[in-house]
Amino acid sequence: MNFDEIIDRVGTHSSKWDMMEPIYGVSPKDGIPMWVADMDFRPPQCVSDAIKAMHDHGIYGYYGDDRAYRASIQWWMKERHGWTLEKDAIFTTHGLVNGTAMCVDTFTQPGDGVVLFTPVYHAFARVIKAAGREVVECPLALEAGKYRMDFDAWDAQMTGREKMLILCSPHNPGGRVWTSDELQGVADFARRHDLVLVSDEIHHDLVMPGHRHIPMATIDGIEDRLIMMTATTKTFNIAGSHTGNVIIPNAEMRARFTARVAAMGLSANSFGLFMTEAAYSPQGAAWVDALILYLDGNRKLFDEGVNAIPGVRSMPLESTYLAWVDFSGTGMPREEFTNRVESGARIAVNHGPTFGKGGENFLRFNIATPRSRVAEAVTRLQNTFADLQ
Ligand SMILES: Cc1ncc(COP(=O)(O)O)c(C=O)c1O
Repeated sequence: MNFDEIIDRVGTHSSKWDMMEPIYGVSPKDGIPMWVADMDFRPPQCVSDAIKAMHDHGIYGYYGDDRAYRASIQWWMKERHGWTLEKDAIFTTHGLVNGTAMCVDTFTQPGDGVVLFTPVYHAFARVIKAAGREVVECPLALEAGKYRMDFDAWDAQMTGREKMLILCSPHNPGGRVWTSDELQGVADFARRHDLVLVSDEIHHDLVMPGHRHIPMATIDGIEDRLIMMTATTKTFNIAGSHTGNVIIPNAEMRARFTARVAAMGLSANSFGLFMTEAAYSPQGAAWVDALILYLDGNRKLFDEGVNAIPGVRSMPLESTYLAWVDFSGTGMPREEFTNRVESGARIAVNHGPTFGKGGENFLRFNIATPRSRVAEAVTRLQNTFADLQ
């Protein structure tokens, strides 16, 4: 568990490192990739051991008998999140973007509206649009530097054509861990407008000290219209395995999903299942506890350094390793602050507008990298905005 170790990822087909030059014009030789949401850390030893055991055995055939895999998911959710779930409620998809697409495909029709509380994870809108559904953006209110739900405004926006709501909990990119009152508000909103609720909880393990994630399934009055999505991939840095869990408490909805899975001919990749079972273990849990403390240290370093630049504000991160930074106080147009970060500081970041309404003045920085690199990024940012001091 040496999170300080610098591991060279260049030339390993890493999207984050090997695509930064083609996309941003920032060379990995002297640039810092702070965009794609994966970490520059190895997963816990138990996960690497599972892959090594597969390698040592040497036969990579079809996977069967998933009882231990399902039990490991049940164990993790109970142990880490106080949530008891039925093993038959669990479906495995090729990650959660695929899970989102499967939900949109199964529970809505072309032309239907799908509600997003924006700004929010950009792939949601991409999938909704690609499926011929309409994205309905309900902007989060920004109050005292934090996002807040705005149900009165959103109620007024609903037309009756909306059929689904996709919630990101905890919130990417704002880092909010929604409170039980807020989640109850979401459940009531979904019921009021007769929406299927998809709750993407992929960041649920990456919660900063002092905060507690509440699984949507534990909120009253939502179970009959709820789909929960969870995964090991963000938590354990194994996103390349493209494995996720779509969890459906309601039996009738489960039957519809089963039918779509069959129609698409989907079945899981054995590497993802082996890794998930290994990760959801006491060893995996100890690793996550250590990771959170490290990320919290990175968060403090990053926020302190960036907030010292006049007009720049990093949103307080309650969860995730994705710092959402507001540049509106600099008075600079978006092109200018973005150009200073990319060409001046040579840091590749996600651009705010891709997350929808409300993201215009923001950039998203991934701080899940060795601390020395976070420190270097902070120094470069302070230098590139030095004229504001
Ligand atoms: C909220 C959210 N959902 C899903 C994903 C990606 O899921 P997957 O890699 O399983 O498709 C991300 C990645 O950043 C995310 O932030």
